[in-house]
Formats: sequence, C-alpha cells, structure tokens
Amino acid sequence: LMQGAMEKLVPLAPDSWIPGGRPDPLIAHKHGLIGTPVSRLDGALKVKGEATFSAEFRFDHMAYAALAYATIPRGRITAVDSGAAEVAPGVVLVMTHLNAPRMNKPGVFGSSPTAVGPADLPILQDDRIHWNGQPIACVLAETQEQADHAASLVRFTYDEEPSTTSLAGAKANGIEQGLFMGQPLLNEIGDAKAALATAAHVVDQVYRTPRHNHNAIEPHAATIAWVDGELVIHDASQMVTAQAQTIGEVFDLDLHQVHLTSPYVGGGFGSKGLWDHQIIGAAAAKLAQRPVRIALSREGVYRVVGGRSLTEQRVAIGATADGAFEALIHTGLSVMTPHNNMPEPFILGTRTAYACPNITLQVEIARMNMLANTFMRAPGEAVGTFALECAIDELAADLGMDPVELRIRNEPDKDPTSGLSFSSRHIVDAWLSGAERFGWADRSAVLGGRRDGEWQVGMGCATGTYPYYRMPGAQARITLARDGDTVRAKIEVAAAEMGMGTSTTTAIVAAERLALPMDRIEVGYGDASIPGAIMAGGSQQTAAIGAAVIAAQNALVGELLKLAGNDSPLAGLSADEVGSEDGGLAKRDDPARRESYASILTRAQRDSVTVTEAASQPLELMHWSMHSHSAIFCEVHVNAVTGETRVSRILGSFDCGRILNPKTARSQFRGGIIMGLGMALMEETQFDERSGRIMNPSLAEYHIPVHLDVPDIDVIWTDIADPHTPMGAHGIGEIGITGVAAAVANAVYNATGKRVRDLPITLDKLM
Ligand code: MOS
Repeated sequence: LMQGAMEKLVPLAPDSWIPGGRPDPLIAHKHGLIGTPVSRLDGALKVKGEATFSAEFRFDHMAYAALAYATIPRGRITAVDSGAAEVAPGVVLVMTHLNAPRMNKPGVFGSSPTAVGPADLPILQDDRIHWNGQPIACVLAETQEQADHAASLVRFTYDEEPSTTSLAGAKANGIEQGLFMGQPLLNEIGDAKAALATAAHVVDQVYRTPRHNHNAIEPHAATIAWVDGELVIHDASQMVTAQAQTIGEVFDLDLHQVHLTSPYVGGGFGSKGLWDHQIIGAAAAKLAQRPVRIALSREGVYRVVGGRSLTEQRVAIGATADGAFEALIHTGLSVMTPHNNMPEPFILGTRTAYACPNITLQVEIARMNMLANTFMRAPGEAVGTFALECAIDELAADLGMDPVELRIRNEPDKDPTSGLSFSSRHIVDAWLSGAERFGWADRSAVLGGRRDGEWQVGMGCATGTYPYYRMPGAQARITLARDGDTVRAKIEVAAAEMGMGTSTTTAIVAAERLALPMDRIEVGYGDASIPGAIMAGGSQQTAAIGAAVIAAQNALVGELLKLAGNDSPLAGLSADEVGSEDGGLAKRDDPARRESYASILTRAQRDSVTVTEAASQPLELMHWSMHSHSAIFCEVHVNAVTGETRVSRILGSFDCGRILNPKTARSQFRGGIIMGLGMALMEETQFDERSGRIMNPSLAEYHIPVHLDVPDIDVIWTDIADPHTPMGAHGIGEIGITGVAAAVANAVYNATGKRVRDLPITLDKLM
C-alpha cells in the first residue's frame, strides 16, 4: 500500500512539504487544546452499550451465518454431504464451492494501493484446500444457534495431498529473500562478517518467537445486505475505503456501490481487514436473497483471521572493549503461505537503532500450508526488538557495562542504514529520565543478587522503536453550519476508531485548527462514502488525519474569505494572511482585523459552507529518518520454587514527538505494554506440525494477560515536537509493545541468571 502510493511522490525542496511552507504554528499548542487531556468522546456510548458494533446492526428478514472449516492442510474436496444440514431446523441455505456465486479473487495487500486482501486465493470457488481451518461451507439459518448446529452436520470427503506443515519441512523446501511492501528485507553496510571475526567482544545467538493469534475483544463480524444490486456492509474495519474497494472488485462493483460503514471497532491491532468471512457473507446473502449477519466465533477468528508468524533470528554483535559496536548482524527466517506476502519484517527497527560501521540485516522466508499470516501490532519491530535488545543485554553482561550506558554509547547521529538525518530523536533523554524515575541505579549487577523470600528479583531494560509513517490519500471534509449566532463544525474523515481515541484526537485537532470549542465539533468517520482513504494502520492514522484537517482548514479559509466579500474587516486579505481565531478568522499579525464565522455566513446569507481537501503529500518521509522511540524498564519477581514470573513494575519512557491527547496516549502506551507482557510471558499459538491445525483456538488455552497479571504501568514521555510532521506528533499505536518482551527477558536474566531466548518465557524454561 505504502510503496504503491510512495512511488508516485516527487521530492520537493525540503521546506515546501510542510503545509503552507512553514512550520505549523499549532506545534506549539496555539489554542491550548493540543496537549490537554480529553476523555474519549465515544467512551460514554461504549460503556452505556449505545455504540453499535458490526454484529449489532439488524436488517429485516436477516439470516445468521455459520462456517464449517476444513480439517486437512492441503488437498481437494471430493464429496460434500449436506443432506442433514439442509433439513436441520431453521436452515435457509447451505453454501459450498458447489453452489457459491462466481466471484473474483481479492487483491492481496500491497499488490495495489487499494487491495487489502490477506491472500489472493479464490474463496469458495473450487474444491481446493489451502490450510487446515479454511472455511469450506457457510450455513444460513433463522437463528445463530440453528446455523451453528447445522454447520456441524455438513460432511466432507477429502483427497489429501502432500503438505508442508513443519518448520523443518518448510526450510527443506527452500528459502527465499523476504520482501516488505515490494522491497527486499536486506541491508549490507561495510563488512559485518569480517568485523565480527576480529571484534574484542562478541555475542552471537539465535532467538525464537512463536506464532501469535489476534484476540481483539470484538471477534470479527459483518452484517450485510444487497439493496438494488448494491452492497451494504456494516463491518469491523481498520481501513474502510480500501476494504470497500476490494470487496467491490470481488463482486464487480464500483466503490460507490459498496456502502461500508464501521462506526465502532472493538480492537483491531492489524487484524480488522478483509478476510474470507465478509466475502462469504456477501455471497451467501446474494444466493439466499436475504440479509446476513456473519459473526465469527472466537475459534472462527483463529481459523479465518491470520496472526503473527514465527521467527528464528540470529543477532551477532561485535564490540570494542569500551562497547562501541563494530559489527551488527541481524538475520533469520520467518514463514508465510504460498499465496500471501507478509514476512515478519523483524529487521526494520534494527536499521535505525544503533551506530555501527558494519551492518548485515536480512529476513528470509520459507513457505508453509497454513492460514495467511498478517499484520499484528508492530509487525517486525515487536519480535525484532526482542532479539536485538536481548543480544545487547548479553553484550553488556559480557562487557561488565550497564546496559543503559551501552545503548547510549552507540547512539547514532544519523540513520546508520539510510544515511538520512533524524527528524527528531531524543531517545537519550527518554533513557535518562526513565532510569531516574524507575530507580535503575538500584539494580544489582550480580545475577540472582536480590531475593525476597522465595522470589528472585531482577531489573531489565530495552529500547523500542517504530517508524513514523503517513500514507498518501487522506482527505478531510469540513462543514461549518450556522444556527443563529452559533456555528458548529463537522469534520469527516474516512478513518477508523478502534477504541484508541482517534475520533477524540480528530476533534481536538479540528477544534484547535478552527478555533472553536470542543463541544462545537462533531467528527464523522468509519464510512467508506467519506472522501479519501485513511487506514488505521502503521500507527499513522492521526498524522494522516491531521494533515488532511490542516489542508481542509486552509481551503475553508479561502472559501470564507470569498463569502466575506468587500464589506468584511478581512476584505482584501489572502488566505495566507488569515488564520482561525476565537470562532472566526483573523489577520495573523493583526488579530484586531477579524470577523466571526457566524457573521461571515450571516452576511453571505448562508447556513453552511463545506470544503473537501486532500492532505499534502507525505514528502517528509523522503527527507528524514522518522521514528517513535521508547526506553522500557521492568522489574520482575521470579519464583525460585515454581518458576513463575511476575512483572512487578514496568515503566515506559517514550519519545514520540508532541503528545496530542495525554489521556488517550497514556492508555495507548499502556495497552501496548500489556500486549508486550503477553508476548513475553504467555502468548503462543499451538500449531500442530503434523496436521497444520491450530490446537488452542480459544482464550482458555491461548493465554493473554488478565488484570492480575498487569502491575501498575508508569508512562512518561519527552513531548518534544517534531517540526517535520503535520502536528509535531509521531505514531503511538505500535511503539508500546516494542521492546517490552526484551525488557522482561533481560529482567528475568538479571533475577535468575537464566537467559531465555525463545518466547514465551514460561515457567518450564526457568526450572
Ligand atoms: Mo497495525 S499491525 O498497522 O494495525
């Protein structure tokens, strides 16, 4: 997606990509809203049950869908026995590849700027099985329970074919260079192999991370109807426009014929995209000529929605006696299917993390017959920082050096692989303020040196990193509407609110930009009919929205000046000379020359004015190396009798540019850290290497942290604005998880002297 869009960009002079060609005055909190804590505007609706989620929409005469899943990893369906299902109570339709309507294949993510399918497989179009768990029948019935029951009655006969379901088998079939967004995951600077061979101090280890499945609180669902040949979908989506476009292509519809809304999403983390279930639901609705609700069970999410793929990573670091890195090698392997394109890009963070003259980075892939894997919060960085930051801890131990000190000594002054300058990087500040606040000086350098009864106590730390992105294609529509002397603004963006505070932050940015109070701002989102395309992914949505709001506000100033005419105090001024102040427009350097929005609209005899404008192109990405950063500090208690690890304290010290809403930002950071605790200690998809089947498809057997697993999480940040982003902000959605697993592993090592290099750190590995 990023690559397709970025290819169209043309570099401009370094100062011309900022809207208006000058630093944004709001970076310094012009009206005081940016940087003030604001509660989520959608919060009350959610706790009162008044927010309608995708599986809560209703259509008249709606049927309920249930799926049946293949039980072999590869082969053909030779016979279908649907007789018992068809006569089961309430059954409306049994749909298999034998009777499903003809559909086009979805375009795989990254194959074009709009395609968002996880894989390019045809769905229910032939007898082929590609993974153990593939949906192979859809039953519609009058109730969900009737559909679930009847789906269990459909019988399939298979002709099983040879498959690859073990990692060893996948490697034996051959490995390939991994590509991410079309680019090879490969960097070669200097001669790392030679430098490693002669380095005074060397660590060289292999780290392993398992498969992870998505467990958003809201399982995936869609409520779907065909109305006059057009498709209406109430979906749970992180990318409404691209998703409407792709499902439209499957059914030969134009974008305007797909009415896709997704007003509320109960968590996404990369998973709330287009999967088989929405396409199957739309196909069944077409065939049965009835609206359909298709809500995946928790098991269904594990069968249909891909997660994070496993990795095996080698990290080798060679350093001088005083800790300067001379060689940095981060290479290894991840697995994918034959029909998707999402390697776990674990070297992305390593590209920019540390100064080193000799760097080799590479991700290779092997192919397996499994569910297509996908994005999962900080894909690449989350698992890559585990390996890199554990290796640095191992080197610090070898050098007898404080691991914070070792990292600061290797702080780069420019991006070590791209050679670009950093737009804004204050990670050393984050390290120092975090160490002070956490009490890092109290850490015992002696392994196993602190005891509390039968508990061994240790401290660890790690760096997290996640790139700043801003995808092209964002637009914003602003409508100013007058009711007497009161003017309200509606801001519409084709964005998604997954619970992280996007709609609130959009309101803050719009209120600031328009100089209106928050309670005069309404935000519309989660609807593919809104112009532009904005994806809640890559931690870039807020920057994309902000740039679009800036552009739309500039356009609005121009429209209002036209309406103001010659009788206005603003007469004769150009849009460049005018900004928003106190519910109206004012000359920037002479605010006494002003007129309120209400006055301008009244004189022009207008009730409202609407503008739509596209965001500036994200050219900042071509000029700078831009990233969010963190320093994570963690204290663990490891039980010497049982091996149980309890995280007793954790602090995230973040450097992510300007923080727009401290309240939702703190929550985002904490949520990411909690997901990191799960990655460190619990999460692991049990994939049966004999059958390719996921064996723990439930929250009973796939463990994620519960409240009692989570200590108080302290969060601080530098709050230093990046002058090269639309609002001075970097992304905060994915940085939280990165570094956490390494900080925990390093603390466990400090507590026990045991180095666990394969996640999760379960008690058996510490006994
Ligand atoms: Mo994120 S994994 O880009 O939703």
